[in-house]
Amino acid sequence: MPNKIKNDKQVKIHAPIVEALKKAYDNPTFQFHIPGHTKGLGTLPDFRNLVGKKALLVDTTDEFDNLGTLTPATGPIKEAEELAAKAFGAKRTFFLLNGSTIGNLAIAMGLTKKGQKVIVNRNCHRSILTGLIISGADPLWIVPEKLTDWGLWGNVEASDVEKLLEENDDVSAVWITNPTYEGVVSDVASIAKICKKHNVPLIVDEAHGCLWNFNDKLPTTSLKLGADIVVHSLHKTGGSMSQSSMLHIAENSLVNAEDVERALMLLHTTSPSLMLLGSLDAARANLQSPRGQKQLSRAIANAKYLRSEIDKMQNIHQLKSDFGYKTDVTKVFIKADGLSGKRLESILEIDFGIEVESASDVGILILCNIGNKRSDFEYLVDCLKKIDTHNYKDIYYLENKKHMPMLMPIIKKNLRDAYFSEKEIVPTKEAVGRLSGEVVAECPPGISILLPGELITEDHLPYLTGYDVIEVLK
Ligand SMILES: Cc1ncc(COP(=O)(O)O)c(C=O)c1O
Repeated sequence: MPNKIKNDKQVKIHAPIVEALKKAYDNPTFQFHIPGHTKGLGTLPDFRNLVGKKALLVDTTDEFDNLGTLTPATGPIKEAEELAAKAFGAKRTFFLLNGSTIGNLAIAMGLTKKGQKVIVNRNCHRSILTGLIISGADPLWIVPEKLTDWGLWGNVEASDVEKLLEENDDVSAVWITNPTYEGVVSDVASIAKICKKHNVPLIVDEAHGCLWNFNDKLPTTSLKLGADIVVHSLHKTGGSMSQSSMLHIAENSLVNAEDVERALMLLHTTSPSLMLLGSLDAARANLQSPRGQKQLSRAIANAKYLRSEIDKMQNIHQLKSDFGYKTDVTKVFIKADGLSGKRLESILEIDFGIEVESASDVGILILCNIGNKRSDFEYLVDCLKKIDTHNYKDIYYLENKKHMPMLMPIIKKNLRDAYFSEKEIVPTKEAVGRLSGEVVAECPPGISILLPGELITEDHLPYLTGYDVIEVLK
């Protein structure tokens, strides 16, 4: 008999937080505790109508209604974290509120110390830098190859990691971002091997790769390639609500999960939103269910369809794996001849009502998500065809701002020391030759233009046109 794919009704889908929330909803109590909107009555009716009464009825925090606690994880929250660890291939998983940002802060605070060296790729997210400011560890930068035709950063080379580890025998961790925001993938297996040889833990910020363990047409998750600890932004592409993420400790990890847990305990809110935690539980359960599996296969098929249609276009081009870098098929970075990325983004938005993930100087990033329908992509393809054959002009010469920071840092002072030094505010145009006092890293992509202690040069100015003033060291 052929092997039939089961549907959701035939498969038991267990989501402990969702089930506990439902039970609490079905068994209402007289409530004399936070949140003070008390099931939605104490808020603006327009807001209640907008989000729906039910959403406010289930807006509660841990401690109440037998929902368990987040830190330490107990009850349904603990059970949901255990199920997530299994699903993502981890030894232990922590649910995160405040995004992967808090995961990176906790990793820095729990696993790195003042004066320790940490190898980090320069195009990391600013949350890693904030973490290093908190801990006082010193970043040893890896500057990946620049894909200049695309205005993007390439992958982290294993040979660069090896060189830095051989030159510095006191490195406490290697911390890489994989994939990049635009989906460029590094050879994590080789990097992990090198880290193991030097007995140094490998931390992977896999914020943009949380779907990988759920479909073998996607790259392999770092959790299976030898990383010690991995962060996933489930809210970005995994289907959970904004700001909900996960942190995973790998099987055979060199790091002590309790060190990270203690830091999370200090950093997390003491009133976690059960709705956000429930959405993490639901996202994991959905991805494991036949329905979620179908959605993910459809997202990959949609990405392939979009890519094959772009291949037929004359003036619109896409970043592809066969250009020498591995990429995640669901992240489609395109550019159009004669148009900046910002101009392409605004044509799509103003003329066609399409919003894309982000735009840089060169191109735009389109995410092929599990929630998108094929008809969404058919419409997008139709619009791109019109742009491909129309004579759209780039009016962005009026705007001289650069969007994707691709600069070599000139470091003059330790990050933490500089951050806590005395500072003054000066007009940006007069700041050339001074040392930055602030983290300048606009989102998206949250990659730093300047960090505290770095020399400000003429090259920075095109990235700073939105800043009349800037903080510099005295
Ligand atoms: C590579 C990377 N890491 C971490 C983060 C922070 O994630 P979150 O928005 O979930 O806090 C981002 C956000 O864009 C990111 O791009």
